Amino acid sequence: MTTRPEMYPLGRRIRRSHSHGNLQWQESAVTKLQRSAIKSQKACCIWFTGLSGAGKTTLANLLDEALFAAGAHAFVLDGDRCRNGICGDLDFSPEGRMENVRRIAEVASLMVDAGLIVIVSLISPLVAQRQKARELFEPGEFLEVYLDTPLDVCEKRDAKGLYKKARQGLIPNFTGISSAYEPPANPELTLDGSGAPHELVNQILRLVHQRSEEEFACETSII
Ligand code: ADX
Repeated sequence: MTTRPEMYPLGRRIRRSHSHGNLQWQESAVTKLQRSAIKSQKACCIWFTGLSGAGKTTLANLLDEALFAAGAHAFVLDGDRCRNGICGDLDFSPEGRMENVRRIAEVASLMVDAGLIVIVSLISPLVAQRQKARELFEPGEFLEVYLDTPLDVCEKRDAKGLYKKARQGLIPNFTGISSAYEPPANPELTLDGSGAPHELVNQILRLVHQRSEEEFACETSII
């Protein structure tokens, strides 16, 4: 088993090594690299951001399936799902969203420490929220995928009927209608979510492959 802790000289290891109040960060004897190496994969966080209806959940699930079929161990953290559980106490106010994104980012970061490929699907509308999330990861581990699906396409889809309600003023702070969405300036990948989902997933798989030295994603395609 190969372990190369020197790959990660900065960032989290240092940040987490500080004691905080009466708490002490305890390094695990088994490293993240060892945990991902037994799965022949490289842990990372693929972070989908974009409007409601942009296709984040669909692509996250397709990507999860494709990675699983290729023998990788991934897991999806989806906004709608997490808001029923770990974030069930939060609203869509600016503070509620900030805390929503913070919690999911922390969970994703722990899951990456466990050696997994974590797929996050969250509107995460603000640059500052996503920047804070990114800072929890080692360089190269956080892959921001911006689903740049035009608002009118999202609104036409309106699978949950939320845009209609938002236009009627029945949902406050609705992203893209009455609450801002700040596009990422420099995401690892930008996709137009009105394209064919399988094609889009293949582009993401190529990105995952590019940064992976492992075999699992090399020839992966779900067409
Ligand atoms: S985030 O802004 O905090 O990242 P999140 O991804 O969890 O949002 O939102 C999950 C889902 O909540 C959305 O996909 C949408 O279906 C629903 N939703 C309910 N109210 C709102 C709202 N005000 N703005 C956007 N989405 C909302």
